[in-house]
Amino acid sequence: MTSLSEIASASRRLLPPRSTERFARPHLTPATSPAKGEQVTTRDRRELRLRGIEPGDVAALQRCFTRLSPEDIRRRFLHAMSELPAPMAQRLCRLDPQIETAYVLMDESERPAEMRGVGRIYVDEAADSAEFSVLVEQDWTRLGLGALLLQRLVDDCRRRGLSEIWGYVLQENRPMLKLCKELGFTRRLAPDEPGTAQISLRL
Ligand SMILES: CC(C)(COP(=O)(O)OP(=O)(O)OC[C@H]1O[C@@H](n2cnc3c(N)ncnc32)[C@H](O)[C@@H]1OP(=O)(O)O)[C@@H](O)C(=O)NCCC(=O)NCCS
Repeated sequence: MTSLSEIASASRRLLPPRSTERFARPHLTPATSPAKGEQVTTRDRRELRLRGIEPGDVAALQRCFTRLSPEDIRRRFLHAMSELPAPMAQRLCRLDPQIETAYVLMDESERPAEMRGVGRIYVDEAADSAEFSVLVEQDWTRLGLGALLLQRLVDDCRRRGLSEIWGYVLQENRPMLKLCKELGFTRRLAPDEPGTAQISLRL
């Protein structure tokens, strides 16, 4: 099993260091566990499991959606949505591994376990690139989890041999733009999407 410090150091080798973390201690500490995925301990001592999304995560994904603010929903899906319909939730949990990867952060202190974060990529094989999205539930933000998910997605794209990872981010979404800037992404206006930036990282 890979420890978070190993992940962090591997990521540091591959990505420019985050500006605020060049000399800082890691935000997240690893722990070994025989269960699938990896245990993540945040600096405020809460525990999550990082693992791949599964078909059985549909209900947890839908519950997670109900806890999101309208602003978070708009920032993640780039438009307003009042609910996450079951067919869409099922689709988001049942991946085609050839072209998709999704990681979830599961809070197993709750029964049933709750989903606190999701990061996914969708590969465009013809373009040799993947589009990503990331979401962290509000109560769990500013703990390094968004960066962890994004780093994992970047690593996955590199393993796939892709040349670029990219995503659409609303221009007003300063948290996400800041996070991407720290991870070395570049930003340009999305030509066909007013108010939206296209951020990308060459791999
Ligand atoms: C954007 C989002 C993913 C960030 O997740 P997160 O877990 O809080 O991110 P991190 O804790 O890894 O933050 C990393 C850095 O990004 C920047 N950042 C994150 N949130 C910020 C905020 N609210 N204000 C300012 N900077 C912020 C900071 O530099 C932060 O480092 P620091 O906490 O050491 O200062 C989360 O707020 C979210 O899910 N938003 C709604 C959905 C969304 O916007 N998705 C992106 C579209 S693909």
